[in-house]
Amino acid sequence: MAQKLFIKTYGCQMNAYDSARMAEILAPLGFVAAAAAAEADLVILNTCHIREKAAEKVYSELGRLSRLKAARQAAGRGMTLAVAGCVAQAEGAEIMRRQPAVDLVFGPQAYHRLPEMIARAARGYGVLETAFEVERKFDELPEVRVPGGPAAFLTIQEGCDRFCTFCVVPYTRGAEYSRPVAEVAAEARRLAAAGASEITLLGQNVNAYHGRAPDGAGSWGLGRLIAHLSEIEELLRIRYTTSHPCQMDDELIEAHRDIGKLMPFLHLPVQSGSDRVLEAMNRRHRADDYRRIVERLRRVRPGIAFSSDFIVGYPGESEADFAATLALVREIGFAQAYSFKYSARPGTPAALLEDQLPDEVKVERLRHLQALLARQQRAFNERSIGERVEVLLERRGRRPGQLAGRSPHMQVVNVAAGDELLGRVVEVEITHARAVSVAGRLADARPNAPRQLAPPIEEARIPA
Ligand code: 5AD
Ligand code: SF4
Repeated sequence: MAQKLFIKTYGCQMNAYDSARMAEILAPLGFVAAAAAAEADLVILNTCHIREKAAEKVYSELGRLSRLKAARQAAGRGMTLAVAGCVAQAEGAEIMRRQPAVDLVFGPQAYHRLPEMIARAARGYGVLETAFEVERKFDELPEVRVPGGPAAFLTIQEGCDRFCTFCVVPYTRGAEYSRPVAEVAAEARRLAAAGASEITLLGQNVNAYHGRAPDGAGSWGLGRLIAHLSEIEELLRIRYTTSHPCQMDDELIEAHRDIGKLMPFLHLPVQSGSDRVLEAMNRRHRADDYRRIVERLRRVRPGIAFSSDFIVGYPGESEADFAATLALVREIGFAQAYSFKYSARPGTPAALLEDQLPDEVKVERLRHLQALLARQQRAFNERSIGERVEVLLERRGRRPGQLAGRSPHMQVVNVAAGDELLGRVVEVEITHARAVSVAGRLADARPNAPRQLAPPIEEARIPA
């Protein structure tokens, strides 16, 4: 009999990708998707540890699930409760101590062993798997891919060796690992054959990519990989995220000049505009290095739009440091951005610093920065009114009769269009701007053949 599976995904796009792969591994064992946790025989929380709030959410969700599990058990049915992802990697057995209803805890490198772990858990053993074996994970994941919709994710790189002082990723995701070019290309071709028109290449530090070359001699960087993937005919759009400024090499910058399928948008976290703070964070670049990269990209790809991540209230951040961040933001002009209060993560060097700032200061700076970024995003959206942009229609829109997709600049675009256009690239004339989206009217439906489609993976984000 079919068993039901419910996966709840937190955090980044890499987790969204991993959740899809877990569902694929479990499908041959007879697991089908449940609409809600209460109906599921197996519930997996795929967790995020990047900030404190993200981790705390997991514990409150586990409390809720433990009550669901008890209710199901009272009705004579079981529920296996699993915690995956970065909280699992970071906290391990502590999770089972805090929430005894949890049967299974496993880190991001153990997904390929899910069938075995579930079998062990079903026999009543608590299972804890947090070893790092990233190479085996990719080797042993099944090759089949269910179509992920017209805009698909593809993890090409995992882990990070940069050790920014605030960040848990080098500890939870382990050392940097790049998948071989041939493996990435094969997966991209499978996704394209299954209906994907757009691929976003994922990695915590994606532009550190250095996968083994197809002929086995040496390795290729991200720019070269993108050029290779752009030859896949059905693929119309390529994106990548998330990058580190220190690894924007010439080849990658030239890819933005030469490869039309590479979308004119880059999420490039800067974290702070103050050289003093950047140095304390171990970012290994200055604010001016960031400005220069943006300039170079704007020269080779006029109109390219930028997004970034910011942390306010890093230990010891002064008013002058914060003012430098605001100045950098004003100079660059972002199309969108994410900003966070610094959150001390146990085990990271910054958590041990003494000059932690009071929460009120962080709240006030965050409010100030977010107001500025929101004005820039709205202004960017308003400037696009009257433009004709190509939109890949990915899902139903805000209102009935509307579809939504992304512009080349990553803006969410809502447009009146029938379901028959789902998965197509259409030309849209932008007529309205909102805070975080735009709306427009259909100008032209490009003749890319209708593709076979599955529901899109939910939106999320990743660190770097
Ligand atoms: N506190 C606040 N924000 C953080 N980020 C990473 N670690 C922390 C932390 N300890 C942010 C960074 C990163 C994004 C994914 O999350 O801005 O780029
Ligand atoms: Fe690596 Fe990015 Fe974390 Fe820095 S912020 S350690 S580059 S994942």
